[in-house]
Amino acid sequence: MIEIIAISGSLRAASTNSALVTALAANAPAGCRVQVYDGLGRLPIFNPDDEGERTPPEAAALIETITRANGVVVSCPEYAHGVPGGMKNALDWLVSRDAAVGKPAMLVHASPRSLYARAALAEVMRTMSFAMYEEGTLEIALLGKKPAEVEAILSEDANREAMRGAVRDFLEFIRGR
Ligand SMILES: Cc1cc2nc3c(=O)[nH]c(=O)nc-3n(C[C@H](O)[C@H](O)[C@H](O)COP(=O)(O)O)c2cc1C
Repeated sequence: MIEIIAISGSLRAASTNSALVTALAANAPAGCRVQVYDGLGRLPIFNPDDEGERTPPEAAALIETITRANGVVVSCPEYAHGVPGGMKNALDWLVSRDAAVGKPAMLVHASPRSLYARAALAEVMRTMSFAMYEEGTLEIALLGKKPAEVEAILSEDANREAMRGAVRDFLEFIRGR
């Protein structure tokens, strides 16, 4: 069983990115389990002085979660042409560890915009030595939609198949490494 961790870069209760990763988990293809990481908002702000023995428990749990996972999927909004601080903060806790090194990762998108954040996030994650599955191109346009609309869009057969297909392709990438 391949274990995938899905992270939303938004803390908003009605987040479209969180809805997308939740739907990915619900529509996971056979042979894998997709678990949503929900600890982003509880992570202290990264401080290199707090690494090693001083690592806060929330950060240690994130590091352990990523270490154990076979792959990571991230869906992240764009704030002011950048990666939201909460998402970057989570990644910062992983920089000087082995957790990210060679770890397969794929970006998925809940907005057809956010091109700056996509590029920045991919660059950061590549720099951290995540093994980026660059061919992964799942994009479901949920930007500006209300929760009921988001749910309806994510329930459409074509979108469920697109989500399953994207994760299936990612599984092949993971298995091929
Ligand atoms: C503070 C802030 C800054 C934003 N800046 C951008 C931006 O630069 N480019 C963009 O495409 N969208 C921007 N947006 C819109 C969000 O990326 C968009 O609403 C996204 O769908 C929010 O994701 P969520 O539904 O998961 O919270 C911004 C939103 C906020 C709250």
